Amino acid sequence: MEIVKWRAEYATLVAEFDEEHKQIVRLINELYNGLKEEQAEEVVKDALQELVEYTHFHFDHEERLMRRFLYPGYTEQKRQHDSFRSTINDVNAMVEQGVTGMGLPLLQMLREWLVTHILEVDKKYGTFFRDKGFG
Ligand SMILES: [Fe+2]
Ligand SMILES: [Fe+2]
Repeated sequence: MEIVKWRAEYATLVAEFDEEHKQIVRLINELYNGLKEEQAEEVVKDALQELVEYTHFHFDHEERLMRRFLYPGYTEQKRQHDSFRSTINDVNAMVEQGVTGMGLPLLQMLREWLVTHILEVDKKYGTFFRDKGFG
């Protein structure tokens, strides 16, 4: 089962970032399945941890490249990434402390955020980075 499906329209044209977005989609679906199938709490926690770590890695990677090429939309990207960083860190901390019962709404929030960010913000860097030789 998938709570989010990769679609061609999500592609930004920067292959390495598209691969990372696909991996985030996979990790969200993994977490979804863990919750849905009521897998052991440790399994769900690990899946969430992996998603959190991978998301940090991806944001850092995007921001590094943006700074290197002085991407004009950097401030907006950084602002959105920082806000999501603090949200997922809070969620992770709550789960670590054993707060439960926020499974599906949490997943829906992650999915909405991701899709909106890729479609409305990440997609804008496609042609910029392609012109710099990425594709
Ligand atoms: Fe991204
Ligand atoms: Fe981004």
